[in-house]
Amino acid sequence: MERKYPHLSSPITIGRTTFRNRMFSAPMGGTDIANDGCIGPKSTAFYELRSRGGAAAVTVSELMVHPATDGSHAYHLDESILNSLSCATYTADAIRRHGAIPSIELSHSGMYAGTYMTDKTKQKSMHQWGPSDTVRQDGVQVRALTKEMIDDIVKSYGHAAGLAKRAGFEMVMVHGGHGWLINQFLSPMFNNRTDEYGGSLENRCRFATEVLKSVREAVGPFFPIEFRMSGEELVPEGYSLADGVEIAKMIEPYVDIIHVSAGTYQRTFGRTHPSMFTPHGVNVYMAAEIKKHVSKPVATIGGLNDPAFLEEIIASGKADIVYMARALLADPFLPRKVVENRDDEIVKCLRCFTCMAERAATSTRRCTVNPLIGREMDGVEVLPAREKKKVLILRNLIVT
Ligand SMILES: Cc1cc2nc3c(=O)[nH]c(=O)nc-3n(C[C@H](O)[C@H](O)[C@H](O)COP(=O)(O)O)c2cc1C
Repeated sequence: MERKYPHLSSPITIGRTTFRNRMFSAPMGGTDIANDGCIGPKSTAFYELRSRGGAAAVTVSELMVHPATDGSHAYHLDESILNSLSCATYTADAIRRHGAIPSIELSHSGMYAGTYMTDKTKQKSMHQWGPSDTVRQDGVQVRALTKEMIDDIVKSYGHAAGLAKRAGFEMVMVHGGHGWLINQFLSPMFNNRTDEYGGSLENRCRFATEVLKSVREAVGPFFPIEFRMSGEELVPEGYSLADGVEIAKMIEPYVDIIHVSAGTYQRTFGRTHPSMFTPHGVNVYMAAEIKKHVSKPVATIGGLNDPAFLEEIIASGKADIVYMARALLADPFLPRKVVENRDDEIVKCLRCFTCMAERAATSTRRCTVNPLIGREMDGVEVLPAREKKKVLILRNLIVT
């Protein structure tokens, strides 16, 4: 079969791992997480569907590496909790079964710990730890991590990566972007330290490289490590794309994929998750610029859902891999449809943020254009509506 999108559909081998195409599934927030930190069966089914849909890698979202200082996104691996590793193993198995590489994101929220904590009663009693003493915009006091605490968190990244590998994951994504802890160290906006972790860009990068070295030590030389970073922070007080290029160069020796996202969750949410008011692929230029300066594969993300556009990104060498989050909520089978030349059947994401709103409000997955989301375990039977209503469907609406 002659492929309409040959570059997008072509495999990529990184180290000893071959990914079946260039379309990877991005981390998409934990729902169905128990208070003991275990991932639930609904989430496992959700990730499995991304693999059935043809994505080449499926990233399980935000494994919290250091529960003592980070209550956020309560998913964590703890070998002392019976169940903890088995839940992770079942999830990795379910992803692998359909041909995708199971990956897991290692995260620490730093001074924004507790943002999505499962047990809301614990949220208020938490201490917030970041690179520097500060008071957050919402009045919450943040305390600077001590050297001993930094060392302990660095070790915990390695420990979590080792457990993830033991559980069956075949890649890890270290989250260094979006305003969470590693990004807080990288950023002049958050980091005012005067020791070896602050000041120059090299010093601000030290925590990231220590984390990556700790992860490498735990997983060995052939296990792919991906670093998710913001290409630039998009606010005057933050770091620029020129700084982003330098950061990528500094972390490159320790990683296998450089994943370039954008901005911070707290200040530029509509660019980190490009809204419908931004062009598709608004952040691709950051990956393209970083790719000029590094030799490791580079991934891009942000408002991507059109196969012709994605094909052009890969064919023109702007990036080696395209990641999608919301496009795969709208249509988990997008990658398979691309590979099978059925792109006219793709259901496209509207970028309406229903997914985000529901996650915060009810911790469920919902999507305006995908009525089956959240029902991955329940089958695809569609029952007649209880009440008949007239519905107007607008397609290809262009507002000028
Ligand atoms: C519902 C939802 C949950 C998300 N959760 C995470 C997360 O846990 N970790 C993370 O690094 N990014 C998370 N993101 C960000 C995505 O991985 C991605 O970077 C962002 O949505 C932009 O990509 P997109 O335009 O393809 O959606 C989330 C996005 C959405 C929509």
